[in-house]
Amino acid sequence: MADARPFHWEFEPEQVDREVFQVEGGRRLEGSVRISGAKNAALKLMAAAVLTGERCRFTNVPEIEDVRVLAQVLEDIGVTVDHPEPNVYEVAGGDAEWLFVPLEAAAKMRASFILLGPLLTRFGRVIISNPGGDRIGRRPVNLHVDAMRALGAEIEYRNGYYFAKAPGRLRGGLVTFPQVTVMGTENAMLAATLALGHTVIEPAAREPEVDDLIAFLQQMGAIVERTAPNRIEVEGTRRLHGAGHAVVPDRIETGTFVVAAAVTHGRISLEGAPSGHLDALLSIASEMGVSVSRDESTLHVDATTADLQPFRCCDIETQPYPGLATDLQPPTCVLLTQAAGLSHVTETIFEDRLEWLGELRRMGAEIEIPDQHHATIHGPTRLHGANVEIGDLRAGASLILAALAADGTTTIKGAHHVHRGYEKIDQKFLELGARIERTAEGT
Ligand code: EPZ
Repeated sequence: MADARPFHWEFEPEQVDREVFQVEGGRRLEGSVRISGAKNAALKLMAAAVLTGERCRFTNVPEIEDVRVLAQVLEDIGVTVDHPEPNVYEVAGGDAEWLFVPLEAAAKMRASFILLGPLLTRFGRVIISNPGGDRIGRRPVNLHVDAMRALGAEIEYRNGYYFAKAPGRLRGGLVTFPQVTVMGTENAMLAATLALGHTVIEPAAREPEVDDLIAFLQQMGAIVERTAPNRIEVEGTRRLHGAGHAVVPDRIETGTFVVAAAVTHGRISLEGAPSGHLDALLSIASEMGVSVSRDESTLHVDATTADLQPFRCCDIETQPYPGLATDLQPPTCVLLTQAAGLSHVTETIFEDRLEWLGELRRMGAEIEIPDQHHATIHGPTRLHGANVEIGDLRAGASLILAALAADGTTTIKGAHHVHRGYEKIDQKFLELGARIERTAEGT
């Protein structure tokens, strides 16, 4: 492949869905990259800002498509959103004019459903589209709706929309979930901050992004705290005030680059990597023979000696935090293709999240998938270039990892999925010595 041409950073809108990555594999990655703010924190923080009419300022916001989509949804309902400089957003909830989250927003991004709790508790009513599923499973929102009802909301579902209202104010109560739900926890917590009285949420998700949201809500004047590992309690207040917050670094991006170093037998320093949020992946990586060390806020991964012997195989099972994140299952599976022996994968969170392994097979991986929740990966296998297609953003980033480790050139269709959640990922890989180019399909 010719040397990577300068990036076409801006495509015409109609081109975006035909974006491809061209990756030439077989090169060690070496150098350092800065980890961006977490997508799954930034989206909820921006939604929380509508709980107050005052201005909120967020820094370390990742420049990704999902943030741009949510900013647009907020502006569409009448919330002021300013983007004064890269990685900085300011949201002034004011009095949202339209308490309506349209189908297009939900179709583009399931996370727009996080607006249910804040809009309902602040304004007493909202019409919001059912976000539906995507390529990793059905993705229902019944637990969110049950939580709102537990706080006194009346919600009806008609023609693709939830019509929610809270006569007077929501009232505090006991929100119990039959299973851990990250955004269900967050929606309930956001709604409870302005509800009348005391709310207990359990089991409450333990993901670091939930704690980042708690920290921001406390800065806004909310009375909310994690009173036990799986319990969050809230004392409702009449109003909250504006605040500033830096988005927590992205543990999923960090894990993706840990695997990138490992599978290319490279050496990468990850600046600003979150500490303590990746223990499950790092213990798997070190069990497999990947050397990881940390100084202050930089994580160092050195797999240059991995040439000597393949990684050791390892069984993995996704779990709610602090277990192995389901979002890290795709990158970890790429690493397992380079491990000697049989590795067993159990995906417990989403029913379709192993589907992407079919694309990895096209690159030479030897994988059996007996059912929706289990896979067996034989290794080590030499991966080779192929034409593959991305279904969801985490699988997309993982196909880039596989392409970096493969012999030859890989064309990855659906690059726009990756840009939903990874800031300038191709630029970051280029800076590490990868040969990767983003082009419009067919050019
Ligand atoms: C969040 O999704 C993340 N998204 C996901 O990351 C992440 O994979 C997931 O949590 C991990 O659990 C954001 O934070 C924006 P859940 P969320 O509610 O909250 C079922 C990415 O790529 N469920 O924790 O939607 C659900 O089907 C994304 O960044 C219901 O049955 O996930 C799943 O099986 C992918 N009813 C399980 O619970 C509901 O009402 C856990 O889902 C809600 C969820």
